[in-house]
Amino acid sequence: MSLSVFDLSNKTVVITGAAGGIGSATAHQLGGAGARLACSDIDQSALDRLKGELVAKGINVTTYLSNSSVESDVITLYQSIKRDLGVPDILVNNAAAGIHTPPQDTSNTEWDRVMATSLTGYFMNAREFSKLVLAAKKPAAVVNIASIAGSSAIGRGNFAYSVAKGGVIQMTRELAIEWATSKIRVNAIQPCSVNTPGWRKWVETEGEKAQILMNRLLQGIPMGRVAEPEDIANAVHYLSSDAASMVTGVILPVDGGNLSFNAGGNLGLTPNTLHDHPINRK
Ligand SMILES: NC(=O)c1ccc[n+]([C@@H]2O[C@H](COP(=O)([O-])OP(=O)(O)OC[C@H]3O[C@@H](n4cnc5c(N)ncnc54)[C@H](O)[C@@H]3O)[C@@H](O)[C@H]2O)c1
Repeated sequence: MSLSVFDLSNKTVVITGAAGGIGSATAHQLGGAGARLACSDIDQSALDRLKGELVAKGINVTTYLSNSSVESDVITLYQSIKRDLGVPDILVNNAAAGIHTPPQDTSNTEWDRVMATSLTGYFMNAREFSKLVLAAKKPAAVVNIASIAGSSAIGRGNFAYSVAKGGVIQMTRELAIEWATSKIRVNAIQPCSVNTPGWRKWVETEGEKAQILMNRLLQGIPMGRVAEPEDIANAVHYLSSDAASMVTGVILPVDGGNLSFNAGGNLGLTPNTLHDHPINRK
């Protein structure tokens, strides 16, 4: 296989939540492969910082202050991208928000807020993106950043977030089938914990229990580490490139084996700690 299938020259990529951990790693990766970038986020100063980093590398980037949970913002975003950069080729649906509230205490307001960003926002971006590429009869790719939380329960008050991510996974399959003959490929990635600003803040909310949570998380990941944002960006690059030209409707875990792992399988220990377990000591 020629490496040129990973080349993204002449492709325009929309990334939502671009200024965060996974979003900015994806911007660096896809921009480095030659793509023109349309980076959207609600955080202007973080967008400015990202733009500075990308421009310093010679990457072509335009930034948009846009809230992916607000319909008028999303509609305006795609009108602006079409005006500034033409019809885009790739959408990375990445902006999401969660809460940590047990189901019995979750208000409708909190539920709606999580769904608006983490599920409806993905739908609205995919819809507005598809209108442009369908009208232009262009092949295209959508990569939805889901989570392992979308197909296994993680508890600890991640209820609304997990349900939204489950919706993203099923939306991925439906859109893949709806748009297959129009050559819009739609795939999703399920990261385990990823070392990003958002994730570090989430761990810190556990206060003195943070270390216990970290140990617990690592026990669920057979490869014995959390993911780095670049691990996810590499998978986005593959799914959005011609290397994946026959791949659609796929839900790809990038999780160090987390979803394959049955908790009863190895006494809940990682390969790194297994040799230390009393049962294995001579
Ligand atoms: N970090 C993890 O452990 C992890 C694990 C599984 C899945 N994910 C998913 O990866 C994606 C990115 O997560 P991250 O860890 O990089 O987060 P992050 O908090 O580092 O970055 C998120 C970015 O999204 C932006 N954002 C938030 N709400 C927005 C909105 N309504 N409109 C536009 N932008 C918005 C934020 O300003 C921020 O720049 C999310 O979909 C998240 O659910 C993350």
